[in-house]
Amino acid sequence: MSELIMTTERERPFDPPERIAELGGEAPLHRLTFADGHEGWLVTGYAAARAILADPRFSNRPEYAHPTIPARAEVAEKLRGKEFAVPGFFLRMDAPEHTRYRKLLTGQFTVRRMKQLEPRVEEITLARLDAMEAAGRPADLVEQFALPIPSLVICELLGVPYEDRERFQHDSKALLALESGADEVIDAMRSMTGYLYDLIQRRRAEPRDDLISGLVQGGDLADDELTGVAFLLLVAGHETTANMLGLGTYALLRNPDQLAAMRDDPSVVDNGVEELLRYLTIIHIGPIRAALEDVEVEGTVIRKGQSVAFSLPVVNRDPARFPGGDSLDITRPAGGHLTFGHGIHQCLGQQLARIEMRIGYPALLRRFPGLRLAVPPEEVPMRTDMSIYGVHRLPVTW
Ligand code: HEM
Repeated sequence: MSELIMTTERERPFDPPERIAELGGEAPLHRLTFADGHEGWLVTGYAAARAILADPRFSNRPEYAHPTIPARAEVAEKLRGKEFAVPGFFLRMDAPEHTRYRKLLTGQFTVRRMKQLEPRVEEITLARLDAMEAAGRPADLVEQFALPIPSLVICELLGVPYEDRERFQHDSKALLALESGADEVIDAMRSMTGYLYDLIQRRRAEPRDDLISGLVQGGDLADDELTGVAFLLLVAGHETTANMLGLGTYALLRNPDQLAAMRDDPSVVDNGVEELLRYLTIIHIGPIRAALEDVEVEGTVIRKGQSVAFSLPVVNRDPARFPGGDSLDITRPAGGHLTFGHGIHQCLGQQLARIEMRIGYPALLRRFPGLRLAVPPEEVPMRTDMSIYGVHRLPVTW
């Protein structure tokens, strides 16, 4: 039996951990010892990952999941207890329970609403660039640009007052930090759900033209369910895209020819964003699924009850699907990557994330054509300690 244990530590900032990347070249599935001693599997092959993520014989319910990272073992154990269950948190539900929420949400994340949001994303982006320029150089790109844009956009979409950001940004950081103890995670969950519960009461009393009001008025969900839905959207909606904007800019700064193309050639931007999503794959631990029965995947039998973890960064570099995928090439056909997951849980906010990046990268690079790092690359603090990868800070000048 293998002694393979999951890691988030990396030798190079844009490449997956070497040990896991090497496995990717050998086989699609590997025995993995989870942090609580459970013997499950790690998927590094693209076809196997897609097959499992689309297969209803694998569950995403928290009671079946085992933690991959030692720091998360205590948290996972506590969250399995009923008293911490968050109703409405449909990411961790299976069909048909999941289907009900997903349908209601798809009704809110319409192409029309996303289109309407586009000019607002543009305005927000330009306003942030003005503010960054006014604050002067050097600047931390994360603080000035990468975090505020998705945060402002998700607040506006949901109807969460941006003035309250310190509170929910603090809470979501505690939720995503791998070192957070179980009590810290539970405190952050309670703080955020308490805040959102109050907001839902206010929107019930006085509805507005936002997503939370829309769900309240739809009348399909009880307040505690609505709270869980809003909680999922708020955390998923700003931390993820923020890290793509920060890490993506860093990757472009390290690849000047690709940066120039993203800045000067509008025809490469859409694919360039897909390639950055593929190459950087910021979801570097998780998803996790558990087999509800014995299932054979590419000749390997995953036994009922076994947990399956995925290394999406390695999956997205599978040479059988993305030849030469270890390098960043914004002209490579990058569609089909699994950065947004696959199957019933495939990211609900992916169109919104794409809009923010398609507007964000070129606008930033055009406003500051001389954008460059303000510190040596080895001083850029990488988020190996967070469940979503990226940069903690990106000191830049222009
Ligand atoms: C670059 C940005 C993003 C990335 C890389 C990302 C990635 C993902 C991934 C991998 C999943 C599936 C997890 C699994 O199968 O276990 C997911 C689900 C989800 N994402 Fe995103 N996401 C991003 C942005 C967003 C945004 C902006 C929103 C909200 C507006 C959002 C909302 C959600 C929700 C609600 C789910 C759960 C869907 C379900 O269970 O049906 N995400 N995301």
